[in-house]
Amino acid sequence: MELKRNIELKEYNTFGVSAKATLVSHIWREDDLQKVIERNRSLHMELYPLGGGSNILLSGDIDKWVLINHLKGISIVSENDKEVILEVKSGENWHEFVMYTLENKYYGLENLSLIPGLVGAAPIQNIGAYGVEVKDFILSVEYVDLKTGDINKLLNSDMHFDYRHSIFKQELKGKVFISSVVFKLHKDPKVNVQYKALLEELEARSIKDPDPKDISDAVIAVRRSKLPDPSVLGNSGSFFKNPVVDKSLLEILEKKFETVPNYPAGVGKIKLAAGWLIEKAGWKGFRDGAIGVHEKQALVLVNYGGGRGSDIKALSDTIIADIQAKFGVVLEREVNIL
Ligand code: EPU
Repeated sequence: MELKRNIELKEYNTFGVSAKATLVSHIWREDDLQKVIERNRSLHMELYPLGGGSNILLSGDIDKWVLINHLKGISIVSENDKEVILEVKSGENWHEFVMYTLENKYYGLENLSLIPGLVGAAPIQNIGAYGVEVKDFILSVEYVDLKTGDINKLLNSDMHFDYRHSIFKQELKGKVFISSVVFKLHKDPKVNVQYKALLEELEARSIKDPDPKDISDAVIAVRRSKLPDPSVLGNSGSFFKNPVVDKSLLEILEKKFETVPNYPAGVGKIKLAAGWLIEKAGWKGFRDGAIGVHEKQALVLVNYGGGRGSDIKALSDTIIADIQAKFGVVLEREVNIL
């Protein structure tokens, strides 16, 4: 187990911002992690597992021991005519895993195509897109306790899954390294085409009865048309969560705007589109030197190259204050600030 000091993290975060970590180790096998934990009994560093770096903003150098996850492997736990249960190591690339499932005719994850990051990050924020959330396909998660090295397992019902939320963002935040995720997928396709942008894309392709591969292709096309490719333009996907507000606010907004995108969110509540609010407040396409708000999707903050994490954080603070002043809605960040 190699231990590197003062390492530049620019290539390890999709925002592409520059920041150094005090210590960095690469985790190739589960045993490497046990060695880190053992060594840390005397070093007392804060251990920080890094996945694809696609949901973080480094706002400065970090005095942590960063663990870069390379744990790989997909195995079939069991299968029958209808379902397959797969155990996937947390360092597998998410999109490559989704492509593997489609090639093998295991269905359910097609709407989650092209989401950046690693499999191990999927349960943390319960990734979701185009009407599907990953929680509906996860049976369990295995993790290593970063203090004791103990290996634990949580079942789906233990993980408190919610919109972009789980136990890993709450009680277990900063305490665990997810080592593998167990998924249950279908062999009979059950396609989900409820999301408007997806339906429109399928219509444009004259596909009336889509199979999961058609859905995946359409999702990839919609994402490419709206969301910037991090290898071309630094970003971390949606920077804010879509806010849940009282229905009464929708009525007020509907008097002022012709259409107000919204989704049901429980009794007396609705979820607004943060991207829409940010656009209506005039921020879409805003640019200040090396950083800005994406011109095609206002929910995405971007780094044109050379931008500083602290400036992106400051821009997000300004946007939050402006949306609160204009709409009385407090936006919450989806991206983790370090
Ligand atoms: N909208 C605007 N202006 C914008 C952006 C959006 O008016 O600049 C409107 C759209 O026209 C649409 C509505 O807002 O009516 C929703 O927009 P979109 O379909 O692009 O989705 P979103 O709510 O902005 C969420 C997720 C995305 C996910 C898409 C598709 C969150 C925080 N974001 O975005 O997830 O891909 O739905 O399901 O829930 C991510 O988490 O990183 C991410 C990209």
